[in-house]
Amino acid sequence: MKRIVSLFFAALLGTVAWAQVSYDVIPLPRSVELDAKGEVYVLTQGAVVTYDGRNEVLASNAALLVDFLREDAGFELKAQPDVKKGAAVELKIKNEKLKVKGENAEAYRLTVNRTGITIEGATEEAVFRGIETLRKAIGITGGERIELPCVIIQDEPRFAYRGVHFDTARHYFPVDFIKQFIDVMALHGCNQFHWHLTEDQGWRFEVKSMPELARKGSVRKQTVIGPNSSGLYDGQPYGGYYTQQECREVVAYAARRFINVIPEIDLPGHMLGALNVYPELGCTGGPYDVWPHWGVSRDVLCAGNPKTLEFLKRVYDELCDVFPSKYIHIGGDESPRDRWKACPKCQAKMKELGLTREAELQTYINREMDKHLSEKGRTLIGWDETLEGGLSENGIVMSWRGMKGGIEAARQHHRVIMTPTNFCYIDYYQLKDDRSQPQAIGGYLPLSKVYSMEPVPSELSEEEAKYIWGPQVNLWTEYVKYPEHAMYMLLPRLDAISEVQWMQADRKDYEAFKARLPRMLMLYDKLGYRYCRKME
Ligand code: ACM
Ligand code: ZN
Repeated sequence: MKRIVSLFFAALLGTVAWAQVSYDVIPLPRSVELDAKGEVYVLTQGAVVTYDGRNEVLASNAALLVDFLREDAGFELKAQPDVKKGAAVELKIKNEKLKVKGENAEAYRLTVNRTGITIEGATEEAVFRGIETLRKAIGITGGERIELPCVIIQDEPRFAYRGVHFDTARHYFPVDFIKQFIDVMALHGCNQFHWHLTEDQGWRFEVKSMPELARKGSVRKQTVIGPNSSGLYDGQPYGGYYTQQECREVVAYAARRFINVIPEIDLPGHMLGALNVYPELGCTGGPYDVWPHWGVSRDVLCAGNPKTLEFLKRVYDELCDVFPSKYIHIGGDESPRDRWKACPKCQAKMKELGLTREAELQTYINREMDKHLSEKGRTLIGWDETLEGGLSENGIVMSWRGMKGGIEAARQHHRVIMTPTNFCYIDYYQLKDDRSQPQAIGGYLPLSKVYSMEPVPSELSEEEAKYIWGPQVNLWTEYVKYPEHAMYMLLPRLDAISEVQWMQADRKDYEAFKARLPRMLMLYDKLGYRYCRKME
């Protein structure tokens, strides 16, 4: 009994120690200057958050700050515009850019002094990044009053692109969970949500002019049980797709949190969802099943059929209508060329265009899509395979098969997103002992490895290095069926990548990061987020 009582008090003391304000947050801000005299500011329940009432976006920021503290700490603040005196928190746009290092639209300053808290930046986005920092500093600290040590924090991200990819095609995830996923991204300072919407295993984007695409193409007859090679199937039809209305809702939700949504319709491979509905778009004419298992299908869109481009343009027209993102992902990965080799239409197309390699057919499609997207003011992103036949001029490369593709792309002056499997594929196991985790696709990507990533390869010159836009982690979901599992794969590896995305390389320190992590985990517990408790 005595032992249990003492354990109880130890746990309680531990909680009290953690439940204090600390600016040791993740990602760690660039500069944190604590007041030398140890002064504090006391935030009390019901205190006011104020802002310029003419600025609707700041009003939204203020409302989010109020929501965050209520959910995280059970602490009630009150948002009120144009309060001149006595406000506890002021959100402010500074007209001149806040210079931490250079001019960065996301640079913010968070000041706590004896009279209150100010978060200022050149943009509303910058102010929002500061709000997330304040929120994490407070963590789950609640009660009637919160003591904040006086401080000046000056911060800005290292990379402009800080992405997270989510495959909602192998498995469908409800819109409410997509929103939670976006919340978690915002908490970590990420700003690009790469939404993978279509696959061999299901087409999950509503196209109004072709309603069968989502209605029929989203449904597979069954799903493989266990490892792909098991040969066992569950016999249960599986489907689900996102209506355009839902996609718009997600875009707006993300935009409020300063996250851009980049949709991906993967072409010309990973298209069995569409080929099932329109078999005439395949080289053999089908029939094609929506795949019940995983892997790379040899059946892809026929590059020689003029209907293929007509189809794609219609799909992308609607996609662009729904998603305002300047950047649109056209996929381009894992598209075998066997069918093109044997297809009279594809061969005739090669002859007509004077092409000698099938890879160039993919480039032909990419260029057509590039032209079409450019006319709409959009820029395409493709997986690194899109480099093989020569990428269209404006194309951005997402380097996943290691960093090689990214290096080559940067040398050709294409912008690059670095997401190599060995540092960024969070569908891999995170622990060595794979029996202590849910089944995963394979691989081994522990927290420490994610943290160790350096997105700018040393082979690049200073000039070439400027083309590295930023890193991203990818969450593929062949083996991830439920939201809780997705969160478990994401956290805390997202914490690690967020420091890679945000911090200057020379300030990263894995041991210090691990010491900062428990406060984040307490917040996850509070918010009901699953995460992997063991870390390697
Ligand atoms: C990929 O992982 N196939 C891009
Ligand atoms: Zn063909």
